[in-house]
Amino acid sequence: MKHVLFALFSLFVSAGFCQTNILPTPSFTEFTGGDFHLEGTTLTVESGVFSEAQMNFLTAHFQTQGITIEESKKQPIVSFSYRKHLLLEAYGIEIDKSIEIAYNSPQGQFYGMISLLQLAKVSETSISFPKILVEDAPKFEWRGLHLDVSRHFYTVEEVKEFIETMSMYKFNTFHWHLTDDQGWRIEIKQYPKLTEIGAYRDSTVVGHYTDTPRQYEHEKYGGFYTQEEIKEVVAFAKEMHVNVVPEIEMPGHSRAALAAYPELSCMGELQGVPGLWGIFDDIYCSKESSIVFLQNVLDEVLELFPYEYIHIGGDEAPKTRWNVCPNCQKVMEENELHDSHELQSYFIKRMDEYLTSKGRKLIGWDEILEGGLSPNAAVMSWRGESGGVEAAKQGHYVVMSPTSYCYFDYYQSSHESEPLAIGGFLPLEKVYEFNPIPEGLTEKEASFILGGQANVWTEYITTYDQVEYMVYPRALALMQSLWCQNKPTYSSFLKVYLDFHESYLESRSVNRARSIHIPELKIERTDYGVAYSWWGLDSNERFLYSDGYNGQAKGMFFIQNGESVEYLRGGKGYYDINIQFKDDHQIAHKVYESYCLGAEVEMRPQPHKKYNHNGSLNLVDGILGSKRWKGDQWLGFDQEKMELRVKLPETKNIDSLTIGFLNKNGSWIYLPERVNILYSSDGESWNSYWEGGVDSEEIVVRLELNHEVKAKYFRFEIKPLDAIPEGRGGAGYTPWTFIDEIQIFTE
Ligand code: ACM
Ligand code: ZN
Repeated sequence: MKHVLFALFSLFVSAGFCQTNILPTPSFTEFTGGDFHLEGTTLTVESGVFSEAQMNFLTAHFQTQGITIEESKKQPIVSFSYRKHLLLEAYGIEIDKSIEIAYNSPQGQFYGMISLLQLAKVSETSISFPKILVEDAPKFEWRGLHLDVSRHFYTVEEVKEFIETMSMYKFNTFHWHLTDDQGWRIEIKQYPKLTEIGAYRDSTVVGHYTDTPRQYEHEKYGGFYTQEEIKEVVAFAKEMHVNVVPEIEMPGHSRAALAAYPELSCMGELQGVPGLWGIFDDIYCSKESSIVFLQNVLDEVLELFPYEYIHIGGDEAPKTRWNVCPNCQKVMEENELHDSHELQSYFIKRMDEYLTSKGRKLIGWDEILEGGLSPNAAVMSWRGESGGVEAAKQGHYVVMSPTSYCYFDYYQSSHESEPLAIGGFLPLEKVYEFNPIPEGLTEKEASFILGGQANVWTEYITTYDQVEYMVYPRALALMQSLWCQNKPTYSSFLKVYLDFHESYLESRSVNRARSIHIPELKIERTDYGVAYSWWGLDSNERFLYSDGYNGQAKGMFFIQNGESVEYLRGGKGYYDINIQFKDDHQIAHKVYESYCLGAEVEMRPQPHKKYNHNGSLNLVDGILGSKRWKGDQWLGFDQEKMELRVKLPETKNIDSLTIGFLNKNGSWIYLPERVNILYSSDGESWNSYWEGGVDSEEIVVRLELNHEVKAKYFRFEIKPLDAIPEGRGGAGYTPWTFIDEIQIFTE
């Protein structure tokens, strides 16, 4: 091991435009010189512009900054002027000898005030604003956040808080996921058992649902919103200029409803509300009585939710029951449907026709494309972008919500301190890269993209505090992609976040993740192995580094932010390293030596882009994939065969090697069926090193092979099972193969 110093670079490049604290970043800002200074801490605002609820909101938010706002009829400091040419949600701010907010609609007036707040500098005795011109309008009309209240339930007050904080950042669509397998959360007067029975489960799985053995907490859990409460939330959201889109899931994710009315299923079997997460075979039968039931439910839903879109789910509906149900077979025959996908399409079409007849619009997850998209349906694309692309090409409206950028139930860092999450890896910087317009659309097709949305699934989010932790600051990064005409760089966004919004959220008691404050480990190849460096937000930060070798203590010293420590190729030992950051936060790693540390690895094909952290270096970076899987230690492949070719720096006498696999069947990750390892000294003629199957009950399985050969190249041919076995989650699909790490040892 040795030290190498890399040049430090400044984290923040200075922005080439006029930077203010306003987030999302406005389209245009120009400082006109000097400040507008007000004695005292009261700001008068033209009276009669805002409703009582809006004034309460604005008063509370300005108060957090130390500003009292008062309505005034006579020469208020803040006045509003109507501008016919502005777009609906657009606004302008001109600050000179007073403050003028230009608008075309109440949204513009509201957004103007929110931005104004972010321009204020307040002392104990005065307020000042920069003299400035701001012109601003959103890029997309659908700027959404979703909240799943079925897996865990949040009170009316908490839901209103969620909406209030959304509106502060100019989100305008709240997608309220009201029904799912684990709980039905909306009162439907015609079907009281939906909430009497369907709103409560007897137990809840604790820990990760793929844990073996699985553990449960045996306690009744649930809750629901009365229609009066729903009206209260919708009315509040309207004041905040937020549209509420309810989701009533069908035909899948319906076990809570089927627990209340089992006759709506294919089998009619009485089953409880499940306390386990996942996808269940029992779904609504496609028979007429189930369809009529759902239309009756929608009748009451339409009374409560005035916004045009109604979300009907449509995702993850196994056709296991439909394929054998006599009633479903009859529906297929009568309607000349060829398969269960067409039956799903028929089912959704019935809902589309119904909603259309009531003057509303249907939106559903991208599975509603399967078997043919219903004429008026809009699509919410979550399984990547392809569903959105296909729908837009067919001329249907689309909301982009791909897991890779928009799933806020994923981990936001790989630090041990992250609370248990479903999996996946979505740090702030990745969210920032989101572009709601997928590649490959013409301008006309792209015009069907209404916008984007982040989803907050709550299997592992047990409290509202944790909801906020998962949403902030990621929602601010997402909004940049939904709002900004010209999105500034990530580093200038981050600067504004750290300078203003982080403490602003704190002052509003909005919980937020501090993950970005924990320095990130960066690993790079070097000529002789790999170099590790830790990057904190503060360029002057120093970290206390200590290590041990093969269990023996070695050194302890300070390293600077960005300074790297190099680990050299060769050896068979391991380093126990421990880094202590400011605020006592610690990170521990084991770094394993081997002769292929940092070696070149060719991968055919590439891993799935979701699970490709650090590319092929991940396989030879000295860190072994572990059981706690956050998507950054392992490379994940979803192909029918994989080939990895390792090129060693020199031909050597090799005595052993290892390769590791992850075995998490609950997440559709399986051990390979066959592994064939070959070696070569020229990369052309190959000899067999080892061939065999991998079978184990362990979660992390390392093949450890001893065989002495002389080689420069190794080739790993890896073949997964053809399909996930019957009776298991994901049956019939190609399983995932997760690989890490390859170690090759010299004699
Ligand atoms: C989804 O995440 N199942 C839409
Ligand atoms: Zn059926």
